[in-house]
Amino acid sequence: MTNIAAFLYLVSGVLFILALRGLSHPATSRKGNLYGMVGMGIAILTTLVLATPDFGGFVLIILGLSIGGSVGAYVARTIAMTSMPQLVAGFHSLVGLAAVLVAASALYTPASFGLGEIGHIHTEARVEMALGVAIGALTFTGSIIAFLKLDGRMSGKPILLPYRHVINAALLALIILFIIGLAVAESHFDFWAVVALSLALGVLLIVPIGGADMPVVVSMLNSYSGWAAAGIGFTLGNLALIITGALVGSSGAILSYIMCKGMNRSFVSVILGGFGGETAASGPDTSDRTVKLGSAEDAAYLMANASKVIIVPGYGMAVAQAQHALRELADNLKKNGVEVKYAIHPVAGRMPGHMNVLLAEANVPYDEVFELEDINSEFAQADVAYVIGANDVTNPAARDDKTSPIYGMPILDVDRAKTCLFVKRSLGSGYAGIDNTLFYKDGTMMLLGDAKKMTEDINKAISH
Ligand code: TAP
Repeated sequence: MTNIAAFLYLVSGVLFILALRGLSHPATSRKGNLYGMVGMGIAILTTLVLATPDFGGFVLIILGLSIGGSVGAYVARTIAMTSMPQLVAGFHSLVGLAAVLVAASALYTPASFGLGEIGHIHTEARVEMALGVAIGALTFTGSIIAFLKLDGRMSGKPILLPYRHVINAALLALIILFIIGLAVAESHFDFWAVVALSLALGVLLIVPIGGADMPVVVSMLNSYSGWAAAGIGFTLGNLALIITGALVGSSGAILSYIMCKGMNRSFVSVILGGFGGETAASGPDTSDRTVKLGSAEDAAYLMANASKVIIVPGYGMAVAQAQHALRELADNLKKNGVEVKYAIHPVAGRMPGHMNVLLAEANVPYDEVFELEDINSEFAQADVAYVIGANDVTNPAARDDKTSPIYGMPILDVDRAKTCLFVKRSLGSGYAGIDNTLFYKDGTMMLLGDAKKMTEDINKAISH
């Protein structure tokens, strides 16, 4: 029986790996999702059969699955795409809490987890339990703070406590001390001390991190929650939990690294915090500069007479849900013989792959969508760069201004196109809170308005 279970867990592990692989490209993402669902189904059924719960236990499990499953399905169906990062943060907090609760029940009823009698849990299990609970508790409160910040219920500004590094280091030292205490003596007091201190550390680690770095933090917490699950998997001797935890842990860590690279932020500087909202007032003084304002008709004229147009979507396109209107505009331009390409910045929008998902939803052909490094050199030959709801990812300050907080972040060189059409509602700043000097350049025409409405109006004007 255990061999069959181990085999089935392995199958689900392989399906999870295939799921991750499938999710790495829009064309295969549905299939990837399906692999993940089947893998999870196999893992849950195997665990249920292996645990052979009595009738009462079985009813409880089904009840839990139904309530959790219904809430999950409802939330996933109703959530707006733009709120996905906070949803993920909210879900991670539950993974962290689950790790704490499982560890607590294992501590108080070790026999039912196959860990021996109270007071005689073997040392390795105590260490695994202690680590799992520390990471779980930290993930729980850290994810709640990330959720509150991303959802705008708490300011995105970094909250910088005096001596915060010293306080965090002291907390970490105390946690390690109590983990050793728990490993040596199986003291319940030590266990709860680890929980309490880790909960506090979760809050203190995340409050100093500014809004702009929050998606990296969510992915980092994702990674933590994976390691917490893997730790608990060892305690429970559950292979599926160990495999899944390790997959989540490592993929989250890789994703955090990719995001940091895309924003030119070092991982350490993200963790140490302090970037984001506080920079809102900074940036070059643009009060005496003028901007060239244009209309949908102006844009239609420029686009229809162009031979090459590169579209740069950003967060504003997601807010306006302008992807369908954009595809229709591109179709119309292509019909008129204009070459159209899409340029995607690695951190455009609010989560990795945000723009790719939206464009795929609007059936934009994949071979028209290019990553930054593959298309950046083409802006110099483009007649029009159509920047729709993007801002920071085009800001030349990242390239030219050493004092800018985003200096060093790779950007899409839209300023090298003959004309840069900028669709947004105001001259306000983007996520990093800094002004964009591109608005005031000669080759730029600002099209102030909602991204969807403006795109539709341009399309209408081209058709006339
Ligand atoms: P942003 O710099 O955030 O700019 C988006 C712009 O869209 C805003 O300036 C806003 O200007 C405009 N906008 C909002 N609603 C609109 C609407 N309905 N119609 C038209 N325009 C609208 O976006 P970006 O260029 O995509 O850059 C992403 C930012 O998020 C970067 O700073 C990046 O570092 C950060 N970030 C992203 C990620 C990932 S993984 N994607 C992770 C961490 C951080 P108005 O208010 O004037 O309209």
